[in-house]
Amino acid sequence: MHFNAQRRRIISFLGYGALVGNSPEIFGNNSRSDFPHITGIGPSRQDDLRLADGLHYDVLIRWRDQINATEQFGFNNDFVALLQENAQRGVLWVNHEYVYPLFIGGVKRTKNNIDLERQAVGGSVLRIVKNNARWQFAKNDSINKRIDGSTKIPFTRNTVIASADFAEGTVGNCAGGVTPWGTFLSCEENYQLFYGDQKFKSNKRKKSQYKWERYYPNPPEHYGWVVEIDPRTHTAKKHVALGRFSHESATCVTSGNGHTVVYSGDDKNDQCLYKFVADRTGTLESGILYVADVVNGKWLALDWQKSKILQKHFADQIEVCTYTRHAAKLLGGTPLDRPEDIKINPITGDIFVSLTNNVPKGNLHGQILKITEKKHDYESTEFHSEVFLTGGDSGFSCPDNLIFDRNGNLWFCSDISGKSMGTLPYAKFMNNGLYLVPAHGPQAGTVIQLASAPNDAELTGVCFDAEQTTLFVSVQHPGETSKSLDRLTSHWPNKQDLPASAVVQIHGPLLEAITKA
Ligand code: FEO
Ligand code: CA
Ligand code: CA
Repeated sequence: MHFNAQRRRIISFLGYGALVGNSPEIFGNNSRSDFPHITGIGPSRQDDLRLADGLHYDVLIRWRDQINATEQFGFNNDFVALLQENAQRGVLWVNHEYVYPLFIGGVKRTKNNIDLERQAVGGSVLRIVKNNARWQFAKNDSINKRIDGSTKIPFTRNTVIASADFAEGTVGNCAGGVTPWGTFLSCEENYQLFYGDQKFKSNKRKKSQYKWERYYPNPPEHYGWVVEIDPRTHTAKKHVALGRFSHESATCVTSGNGHTVVYSGDDKNDQCLYKFVADRTGTLESGILYVADVVNGKWLALDWQKSKILQKHFADQIEVCTYTRHAAKLLGGTPLDRPEDIKINPITGDIFVSLTNNVPKGNLHGQILKITEKKHDYESTEFHSEVFLTGGDSGFSCPDNLIFDRNGNLWFCSDISGKSMGTLPYAKFMNNGLYLVPAHGPQAGTVIQLASAPNDAELTGVCFDAEQTTLFVSVQHPGETSKSLDRLTSHWPNKQDLPASAVVQIHGPLLEAITKA
């Protein structure tokens, strides 16, 4: 497709048709005729966090930093969310998704090594304060707390799952969300790495990669949930009603009726997209879970009470929620190409979903899908969907984490796996990056690379502060293809040391010019 034609298509996909005429009803005084011209960077194989001119970064916190007298910041930081109390003070939540045993205790599956790994996963509650226009981690604040692989976490409504009404720990914490009542949602994605997996009505248990079940024989059904964390009380709970699968994210929005709606993808080849509509305010403990039939534009209710098919296969709604994938397929949920992060465009209200890729199906570079609920009602059971952006020739591959700034510009990160990076057909994209699709100015609708990650790393957890003068980014899994400690593939962020995942804050005149109110 000719470039200009493609650009026009992208602008219309963004829902910015009106933007071309600077529609005052959409943007008011904010038509951004002063939008900057942005010079991106090219792909890079440099073992560094490279940024476009006009952007800088500082490391906010990194793996093994002490957060209080007894606890350390965990491994492989992912999702970042900020609840800001005022311009100078906030509480940050950071997920710690998975482990690379070589860097922690060692690859031997001893109890000691597994105990160290259990301490390195979960998430961190952190106090941050702003001084001289920079956020800093406040080390000894009493709110600092780890939730990890051994924290006792109850299931909502005292539900018994696989013989217990609580789970030991949270694992695979990938992306997440923030509720309207000021708590964090943390999603358990690749739970099978830790305790294996159990298929519906099968006695066979698939063994895990990390072999934690060797010393802690916890049921796989205790993982794969959305965990809600109240940072004030340091309490957590696992939400049964939102279902169990490789939850990537849990993006909350409030419907016109005041109900909380949560969108979540199941990040696995040929798995589905879901939404949950809570039936009470201030809680996600009850409501209806739907799976997307993308072919027909319908949300199908996973409601045992109302579905003969579900009644035939499942004993009750709890069983439906525990084996959500199975139930979703029975109802006709559409298999998708790894639905990962989900974000809502603040200008148009459309829902954007990363479909990272599906190599066995020949989808090598992924897409970003745009969903428009019927009548823009988040509770609607009908929707329209279309591909917004396709990886490959657009200059990126494997989209994952997304965020919109207040002007409706889309920022997204790529997730080419460590072992694929540098090999065909991914070699030309080089290291993973952070990209911008401006909604304004002559470059609107184009894809501009703003950052390149250190070797093997992925940029995740993109999150703005309230002023949008700081962008927090998790630099996750640098050096994770290292075969031994004397053949490290990355040394970021300390040139001489083991690589370490870290949360950085990006700031600078370019960021401020893009996000300017
Ligand atoms: Fe943890 Fe699907 O990325
Ligand atoms: Ca992810
Ligand atoms: Ca990913």
